[in-house]
Amino acid sequence: MNLLNKLVVATLPAVPKPIVRYFASRYIAGEEVSDAVRVVKQLNSEGMMATIDVLGEDIFQQQEAVAARDKILEVIDSIQGQRLDSNISIKLTQLGLKLDLDFCLQNARKIVSAARDYGNFVRIDMEDSSCTDHTIWVYRELRKEFKNVGIALQAYLRRTRSDAESLIEGGIGHFRLCKGIYIEPAEIAFKDRGEINRNFMRALEVMLRRKAYVGIATHDAELVHGSYDMINNLKLYKTEYEFQMLLGVRHDLRSQILRDGHRLRVYVPFGKHWYRYSIRRFKENPQVAGYVLSALFNRHRTN
Ligand code: FDA
Repeated sequence: MNLLNKLVVATLPAVPKPIVRYFASRYIAGEEVSDAVRVVKQLNSEGMMATIDVLGEDIFQQQEAVAARDKILEVIDSIQGQRLDSNISIKLTQLGLKLDLDFCLQNARKIVSAARDYGNFVRIDMEDSSCTDHTIWVYRELRKEFKNVGIALQAYLRRTRSDAESLIEGGIGHFRLCKGIYIEPAEIAFKDRGEINRNFMRALEVMLRRKAYVGIATHDAELVHGSYDMINNLKLYKTEYEFQMLLGVRHDLRSQILRDGHRLRVYVPFGKHWYRYSIRRFKENPQVAGYVLSALFNRHRTN
């Protein structure tokens, strides 16, 4: 990010929430389960699969985790009831990862068990590096009991290829591979885009060569085309991987991937806790962050 973009992004917290909400609407389905259902139906009708995320993270009280768990269970029921082509993504800090690991595991267990009963699948998002070991631990525990759960790994982390290898060796390689969104120190994370992309492709190769299922989660055309080459070289079937993208991002590339005959899943976040997720998306797209600020500026001029 250049200096101007950094300045734009640093100013975002001063922007009134209604303005942020207006620009965030491209990235989130809405606040209610019915909003997520509507958006997923539309995506399904256009040939895309979905994964629904109930927004929220880093809760402070057990009741909040229980409420989040129950909302996710409600979503799993809705997916079944409405016959949606969608699975579920969960964040473990929302289920109490930082309060009590066993409590978090039990919440995740209920979710994965409910999804299993409907033949559905749960993907565990990966959060910042303070959560990596515990997230992998919860995943390993769940996989002792369930097959319908996978984990996200981040290509910017130096440890990722070795995590992937160890999970594959344990027979539990079911991944989403993304670049990673949190700010991490250089000792543990690649910082340079070229290095992150090279690590992405190396991790992807480890996963695909060893027949792990991978959700290739990126909007970076270079990585998408690199993945195409790898998929062709390894002669993979379309059912052995999928591409994944976030709601509201790179519709051009999304359509191209579908036209090229690959399966594509869209990450559909919804819920009342939309603010932090939206700010992360703006940081990836300083152009939109600029629109937010100019809306603020124009608002003050007309007041
Ligand atoms: P990059 O950031 O280089 O973007 C490539 C191009 O895409 C940009 O040049 C721009 O054109 C466009 N673009 C990207 N973001 C945009 C935006 N917000 N608005 C408009 N255009 C945009 N991270 C994490 O740490 N843990 C996780 O569990 C997940 N889960 C996850 C699921 C899915 C389905 C996706 C697609 C991504 C994630 N991520 C994630 C986020 C991921 O780590 C990463 O931060 C973003 O996907 C951006 O990285 P790209 O690979 O898209 O490349």
